[in-house]
Amino acid sequence: MFRRSRSRKFKAGIFLLLALLVIVCFFDHKAIHLQVDVKNSGTQTKASTTNNTYVYSWPRCQLNLSAGNIQGFNFLSNSNQNFLYYRHCCHFPMLLDIPDKCGRADESADIFLLLVIKSSPVNYERREVLRKTWAKERLHNGVWIRRIFISGTMAAGLEKERLNKLLELEQREYNDILQWDFNESFFNLTLKQILFLEWLERNCRNARFLLNGDDDVFANTDNMVEYLQSLKDNDGSKHLFTGHLIQNASPIRLSSSKYFIPFQLHKSNSYPPYCGGGGILLSVYTALVINKMSQSITIFPIDDVYMGMCLAKARLAPVSHMGVKTLGLYLRSPNIDKYDPCYFKEMLLVHRFDPADIYIMWHGIHDPNLKCGTSKKKKKKKKKKKMA
Ligand SMILES: *[C@@H]1O[C@H](CO)[C@@H](O)[C@H](O)[C@H]1NC(C)=O
Ligand SMILES: *[C@@H]1O[C@H](CO)[C@@H](O)[C@H](O)[C@H]1NC(C)=O
Ligand SMILES: *[C@@H]1O[C@H](CO)[C@@H](O)[C@H](O)[C@H]1NC(C)=O
Repeated sequence: MFRRSRSRKFKAGIFLLLALLVIVCFFDHKAIHLQVDVKNSGTQTKASTTNNTYVYSWPRCQLNLSAGNIQGFNFLSNSNQNFLYYRHCCHFPMLLDIPDKCGRADESADIFLLLVIKSSPVNYERREVLRKTWAKERLHNGVWIRRIFISGTMAAGLEKERLNKLLELEQREYNDILQWDFNESFFNLTLKQILFLEWLERNCRNARFLLNGDDDVFANTDNMVEYLQSLKDNDGSKHLFTGHLIQNASPIRLSSSKYFIPFQLHKSNSYPPYCGGGGILLSVYTALVINKMSQSITIFPIDDVYMGMCLAKARLAPVSHMGVKTLGLYLRSPNIDKYDPCYFKEMLLVHRFDPADIYIMWHGIHDPNLKCGTSKKKKKKKKKKKMA
C-alpha cells in the first residue's frame, strides 16, 4: 500500500525502479522479511511478485500503549503484559511458504488428510522423526496424506538467523514448512493457529480433513484415514471437530501456573467446550468456519480454548473421540508395558512421545509379526464401535 504511494512521487520510470530498489534494501535491513520464494531461489528475501510469491506490505505492528491503562496491568507478569500489548497484531510476514502445497486452486482436491503440526524451530529432531514415521507423505487406502509444519521464530540476532537457516535448509529438502516472523511463545500459539487458518483459506480450501496437532505426539495416521473414510456422510464439506473433549473447564487463576489466565485476559469463569490442542481432527469445512469466526473474536492466548470460542460462536460442537489421548494412556496396572504396540495399534493419537519412542512405536505397530490377542476381524468391529 505505502509502497505504491511512495513510488508515485517519482514520475520517470527509471526513478520508480530506483525507488523500489531503495525501499527493498531498506526493508531488508529492517529485517521485515518479504516472503522467501523457496521454489525458485535459495536466497533470503525477495520482493518481486513472481508467480508464486505473495508480497506482504503491512508495516510492523506497533505495541498498543493504552493496554497499559488496563486495571491491574502493572501487577501482571511480563508475558501477560506482552500479550496485551500485542494482542491486536494478527498479520506477520511469511518467511517460508508453500503456496502450491495443495496444488493450484483450480486443481481437484487430492489431499484427504493434511497433517498440520505445530513445531518450534529448535525441534529439528522431532520433525525428522515425524517425516519418517506417522507424518510421512503417502497414499493410504487410496487417498493422500500430506504434511505441513507451522512455525514462528525464536531468539534474536545471530541465534534467530541460525534457526531460520535451519528451517530454510529443511524447506529446501522437504518443502513442508510454513514460517511467520513472530516470536514463538506459549502465548503466541493462537496467533500461529490463526495465521495457519488464513493460509488454508488462501491456499488449501480443497483438502478434506486436517489433523491439527503437536510435534510430540504419536499419531496413528493410518487409523485416522480409515476413521475419516468411515464417515459416510462427510467428505470434509460438513462439520467435524473431534479429539480429547474438555468440558466445564475454567480459567486457572493461580499465578504460578503455566496456564494462568488473569481476569484481564478472560473475565468469565468458564470456558466453552473445546478439544485438547495436542491433536484435533477436523474437516476443512470447520477449519474455514473457525477462520471466519476468528475475525471477530479477540485473540485469547490458549489456542485450543480459543478454537472452542470460535466454534461456540458458530454454534458448532466439538465432540469426543475415545482414540485421542492427549493426556497420555491410562494403564490398569504398573506391570503393563506402556510401550506395547498393541495399545497403539488401536489408538488415533497419544501424547506425549520422544522422537526415539515414536520411531520404535511406528515400526512396532507395522510389524507383520505383531500378535495382539484379538483377531483382525474382531478388532475391526471393535474399532467401528469405538469410533461410533
Ligand atoms: C488497545 O488496548 C485497549 C485496552 O485494552 C483496547 O481498548 C483497544 O481496543 C486496544 N487497541 C487496539 C488497536 O487493539
Ligand atoms: C522476540 O524475542 C527476542 C528475545 O527472545 C527479543 O529480543 C525480541 O525483541 C522479540 N521481538 C519482538 C518483535 O517482540
Ligand atoms: C508474539 O509475537 C510478537 C511478534 O514477534 C511479539 O512482539 C510478542 O511479544 C509475542 N507475544 C508473546 C506473548 O510472547
